Amino acid sequence: MKRIVILTGAGVSAESGLGTFRDKDGLWTKYDLNEVATPEGFARNPVFVHDFYNARRANCRGAEPNAAHRALARLSAAVPGQVTLVTQNVDDLHERAGAVGVIHMHGMLDGALCASCDHRWRAQAVMSPVDACPACGMLAARPDIVWFGEMPYRMDEIYEALLMADLFVAIGTSGNVYPAAGFAAEARANGAETLELNLEPTEGRRAFDAGRYGPASSVVPAWVDEVLSRV
Ligand code: APR
Repeated sequence: MKRIVILTGAGVSAESGLGTFRDKDGLWTKYDLNEVATPEGFARNPVFVHDFYNARRANCRGAEPNAAHRALARLSAAVPGQVTLVTQNVDDLHERAGAVGVIHMHGMLDGALCASCDHRWRAQAVMSPVDACPACGMLAARPDIVWFGEMPYRMDEIYEALLMADLFVAIGTSGNVYPAAGFAAEARANGAETLELNLEPTEGRRAFDAGRYGPASSVVPAWVDEVLSRV
């Protein structure tokens, strides 16, 4: 069985109702990302930023995993240790579909971080600037989300997996944001095959050997069935 690295983006959760960032009426068409997804934006207006993530946390709680999340969990379980699932998404739908060991390179909505002492804890449903850090007591609680200009999490593990990969699959991501946007080229340089599963071809499609296009809830289960039929 091949070693597979899978990278998911907002498109895998779109049919669960969580929306995407850069599609028509995506999040970045409604909010200025500099105001809600940068450390400077948070410093300028912490209440506004907390409210932005409080709304996304509530959205996420009301959402259900879709067939794409479930298919990826099924694949990981069918070939233990052969699949590395990396996501740019901050929702927990992969986990709620049964996936384990998911690498959340952009953090998670249900995580809270102390900007003063780096302590992490499970975020309550509604966070605010007056939440004291449970460890140091400072009023410095922020969402444990990787903002623009910050270093994504667990990059060493991701590059290690890309080095060993036989197949790299990008699912539901526009390939607009680095370092994730560079993973396909990285995997290919290491000799992996690359596959793009997306609603439509992305600007980065030339980095992929092949692409299958359509809604993740049908394209992903079909691809997983095909992979498992060859195991
Ligand atoms: N099925 C499959 N793909 C879909 C679907 C669907 N139902 N709906 C939309 N898509 C695709 C779009 O065609 C697009 O290529 O999902 C992709 C979503 O792209 P973006 O909105 O740019 O989201 P993403 O690639 O995850 O953004 C990456 O940018 O803003 C930052 O941190 C944020 O993690 C995010 C990162």
